[in-house]
Amino acid sequence: MAIHGDPFGARSFVKQNGSSEIQAARKIFREEVLAGLSKPARQLSCKFFYDEPGAHLFRQICDLPEYYVTRTEIEILRLHGAEIATVLGSQIELIGLGTGAGSKTKILLEELDRPAVYVPIDISREQLERSAERFRKTFPSLQILPVAADYLEPFELPLPRHLSSRSVVYFPGSTIGNFEPDDATEFLSRVVELAGEGGGLLIGVDLQKDRHVIEAAYNDSAGVTAKFNKNLLARINRELGADFDLAHWLHYAVYNPAEGRVEIYLISEIDQAVRIADRTFEFRAGEKILTEYSYKHTINGFIMLARQAGFDFGRVWTDDQRWFGVFYFTVL
Ligand code: AVJ
Repeated sequence: MAIHGDPFGARSFVKQNGSSEIQAARKIFREEVLAGLSKPARQLSCKFFYDEPGAHLFRQICDLPEYYVTRTEIEILRLHGAEIATVLGSQIELIGLGTGAGSKTKILLEELDRPAVYVPIDISREQLERSAERFRKTFPSLQILPVAADYLEPFELPLPRHLSSRSVVYFPGSTIGNFEPDDATEFLSRVVELAGEGGGLLIGVDLQKDRHVIEAAYNDSAGVTAKFNKNLLARINRELGADFDLAHWLHYAVYNPAEGRVEIYLISEIDQAVRIADRTFEFRAGEKILTEYSYKHTINGFIMLARQAGFDFGRVWTDDQRWFGVFYFTVL
C-alpha cells in the first residue's frame, strides 16, 4: 500500500488538481456508474456520495438528532482521550485515513504527548489543504505532510523529517462499516503494512444495537439522508449529463440483522427510462439500486476480523450505551 520515500520533496504529494486529473476522475466515475447499473443487482458505490454538495449534506447528517454515530465517537474521544493518548505513546507519527475536515483528529492531537508527524490522507484535495493549513497554526511544532490520494488505491508515504517513535494509523468515522467483511480484512491487512513493525491502529467502529435506533439514524425526519442518497443521481446528472428525475426515486434504508448491516437503496417509483452518456437504462416500478452497506459490528466480531488481518487487540473504549467503539490494535 505504501512505501516510504520522497524523491521530489514531501510537498509534491499535494499535486495541483489539473484538468487532465479531473478528466481521468470523470472517466472512472462514468465507467463505474455504467458498470454498476448494468449488473442484474444494480449498484452504485457509496464512495461517490462525497462530491461538494454530498460532503456538505454529510456534514448536516452528522448534526442530525437521529444520527448518533459522529456525536458518540466524539464523546468517546473527549471522555477517554487522555487514556487513548497514553496507550498510543509519545512522539508518534499519526497517519489519518479519510480524516476529512479533521475535527476528531484535532481532539486526538490535543491529547497526544508531543506528536512528531501527522500525515492526513484524503481524496478531497481542497479539504485536505484547508485543514492542513489550520492544523499548522494550531500545532506549530508538528510536521504535517498531507497526501491527496484515494487510500483504497496504492500510494506512497512521504518521508518525514521529524523522528518518531512509531506509526499509528487513525481511521475514524466507522468508514470501515462500508466494507463487506472479506474486503474489510483485506483492507486492514494493507493497513498493517502502512503502520509497519511496531505500529498501531486506532479505529472507530459502529456497534450492533437496537435496530430501531439504527434505522432512525438512516431515515431522519428532516429527510437529509434521503437528499444525500439522491444526490448520487443528481451528481450523475451533473457530471455525466444524465436525466434522472429525482421526484421518481425513493430513499430506502433498512437494517438487515442477519448480516449486521444497514442496506441503503434508491427505489424507482415508476417504470422509467434514463439516459446516461450514450446509453439508456430501463427501470421497472419497485426496482432498486443498492447505494451503500453500513456494517454494524460486535466488539468480539471486530477483534476477530482485525486479528485475521494481522492486528493484535489492545483496547476498546465505548460510550455508556456501547453504541460505538474506538479500538486500538498493534501490528502482530
Ligand atoms: C460515513 C460510512 C460512516 O455508514 O453511517 C451516513 C455514511 N450514509 N448516512 C455511515 C452514511 C448514510 C456513514 N459512514
